[in-house]
Amino acid sequence: MRDFEAAVQRYYGDRPVMKRIDDALRAAGVDPERPSHRDLYPFDQLHSRGIVATREHAERARIEPACMCLISVAASGGASRYLAAERGCRVAAIDLTPNFVEVARVLAARCGLADRIEVRQANALALRFDRRMRSLCRSKTAPSIMSGRTLSP
Ligand SMILES: C[S@@+](CC[C@H](N)C(=O)[O-])C[C@H]1O[C@@H](n2cnc3c(N)ncnc32)[C@H](O)[C@@H]1O
Repeated sequence: MRDFEAAVQRYYGDRPVMKRIDDALRAAGVDPERPSHRDLYPFDQLHSRGIVATREHAERARIEPACMCLISVAASGGASRYLAAERGCRVAAIDLTPNFVEVARVLAARCGLADRIEVRQANALALRFDRRMRSLCRSKTAPSIMSGRTLSP
């Protein structure tokens, strides 16, 4: 597991993610210190079909303000911010790479969502779920979201 973690962290850890996002926001005419979570959609939905897929996922899961969601591979935190800001729920987000954990924390704070999103560094493969928590979803095309709802039939 250590080799795997080191390989993932090496692969994702050497990218200047924060600087790239700040530069992209500036180029779009947005103050990087005060973006709205929506300003970040072009840069923070790191899966195919972007924010459209994230919205569809949340709809299917019937995520509502009472939900507590876990984003298991959060990256820069785009899905976390969408859920907290648009669906009103609380979010725990984890990612293996410290660089991305820091970016997700910073962006949550800049978007005024730090009180609803907690970001930690952890390996999703090491998570243990109670069997009653049956609503784990993994997808190559959308974020992994776990909540009190089932995502697929
Ligand atoms: C392509 S991005 C993930 C995109 C994200 N699912 C989204 O839709 O925005 C890759 C991220 O996966 C993280 N990652 C890869 N394996 C992981 C694991 N086992 N546990 C937690 N994070 C992991 C990396 O650190 C990196 O930040």
